[in-house]
Amino acid sequence: MQTSIEQSERFKPPVTRRDFLGLAATWSTIVAFVMAMLGSLRLPMPSVFPESSPKVKLGRPEQFANGSTTYFPMRHLWLFRNEKGFHAISSVCTHLGCITERAVDGAFNCPCHGSSFDANGRVTGGPAPKGLVWVELSVSPDGGLIADTLKEVTAGTILDA
Ligand code: FES
Repeated sequence: MQTSIEQSERFKPPVTRRDFLGLAATWSTIVAFVMAMLGSLRLPMPSVFPESSPKVKLGRPEQFANGSTTYFPMRHLWLFRNEKGFHAISSVCTHLGCITERAVDGAFNCPCHGSSFDANGRVTGGPAPKGLVWVELSVSPDGGLIADTLKEVTAGTILDA
């Protein structure tokens, strides 16, 4: 069987401009849709994770009895109340950041490398370069005690509340 020149594959007419533009539009739409779907897979994952605030609500002053010592384990913070007022000391060791333990006599001891601190956080032994951090306390407008764990105050600073 013989085929004419017009029926041969080699002599197919070229793609018309209209067909080319139609194919380009179709493929552009498909690619855009696929990219949008891939992008939407990322939506459930936040790109920025919120950090917890450095300010910690500790409670109302009347919750803490005179002479009380309260530990806030999530913030590694000790809150003390005496007849003069409140003060807060971080339990994070100033050597390499381990969490200190408080002994019965009120001293702090670090289990990692043996630093020790007295009841006011002053270094009494070990590699710690400085005493435990005293954290700034304040009273919020609603009367609650607030500790700002990023603000250090001079050891001995008492909040009269
Ligand atoms: S981290 Fe506390 S002594 Fe090293």
